[in-house]
Amino acid sequence: MAYPYDIYQLNENQEVEGKVGWRCPSNIAIVKYWGKHGQQLPNNASLSFTLSNAHTDTYISYKSHSKNAVSISFLFEGIENPAFASKIEKYLENISAHMPIVKQLHFDIESTNSFPHSSGIASSASSMAAISMCLSNIESDLFSLPQDTKFIEKASYLARLGSGSASRSLIGGVSVWGEHSEIAASSNLHAIKINDTHEVFNTYHDDILIVSAHEKPVSSTAGHALMNNNVYANPRYEQANKRVIELLSILKSGDVHAFGKLAEDEAMTLHALMMCSDPSYVLMEPGTLDMIREIRAYRAASGVPVFFTLDAGPNIHLLYPDDVKSEVEIFINNSLMQYTAKGVIIKDKIGNGPQKLV
Ligand code: PMV
Repeated sequence: MAYPYDIYQLNENQEVEGKVGWRCPSNIAIVKYWGKHGQQLPNNASLSFTLSNAHTDTYISYKSHSKNAVSISFLFEGIENPAFASKIEKYLENISAHMPIVKQLHFDIESTNSFPHSSGIASSASSMAAISMCLSNIESDLFSLPQDTKFIEKASYLARLGSGSASRSLIGGVSVWGEHSEIAASSNLHAIKINDTHEVFNTYHDDILIVSAHEKPVSSTAGHALMNNNVYANPRYEQANKRVIELLSILKSGDVHAFGKLAEDEAMTLHALMMCSDPSYVLMEPGTLDMIREIRAYRAASGVPVFFTLDAGPNIHLLYPDDVKSEVEIFINNSLMQYTAKGVIIKDKIGNGPQKLV
């Protein structure tokens, strides 16, 4: 598919240098993206809440060079990280046809995460979003482009090429990624913002209860690929597109129970798809199931609208509105803490999206 934005490059021997920095949050999908085709194009629309506390800070210092090749240094948490560096080099190579400056500039990149790297929290969404914002910012500085909605859209497009779910981290609040016949302006190429939501959802918490910090036995990339031969794939894509529409209407109405039910149904569907892939695999751990049972029993007994979702991993994301915060805190301490790995909980909330640092 043709690149939908203008392409900018420096003149030969043009000397430039500068520094940019962005903080970008992670996001949690309520309707999941699972299955893709082509160049990181989703097989269904997905909808997520952008978070705030789980974020990546990335600074890029740039200087022109005459090599016409990707050239970077990369420090993660202040330490050289060759594995991450080579991922970034591949990514820059990959987008260089769209953004030739990535070969005309040398980049010194420094990145830190607000959450522990070994916590089991995927950092690809926030880290690819932060790099993409920095690159879009460098381009807009060098070519005097406005930092408007097109600027964010382009950053979302670029982030998508690094990690699909990262495309949704560039936009605060609620975002949808994936073309949908009933959602105006929706696109497979970048995420869009959803504005029309009830105020209760601006107060939402996502407490991430770490069940295991071990590396996943099956990566997201391998998981997406297994959807290609999954016999339930097509009904699943239809279901997800239907659920996005249902969810948009729930988000308008403010029905927190309907919201939570849909979130749990999606989490269970995602993991069921993994369990019926060929080969099948399980990412939930015993502690995940123990917590699911506890959450459902507590909710049935108390009526408190606390629900869970899961990413492609064993950790529980506890979703609830702010007005039940104190009850939920007691519930976590009394009933869920025992199943966490060393009591690690990352307390997050729905957030406003990227923040410029430099
Ligand atoms: O962006 P990826 O390729 O890491 O895929 C992420 C998929 C899920 O996190 C499981 C769901 C989603 O929509 O974020």
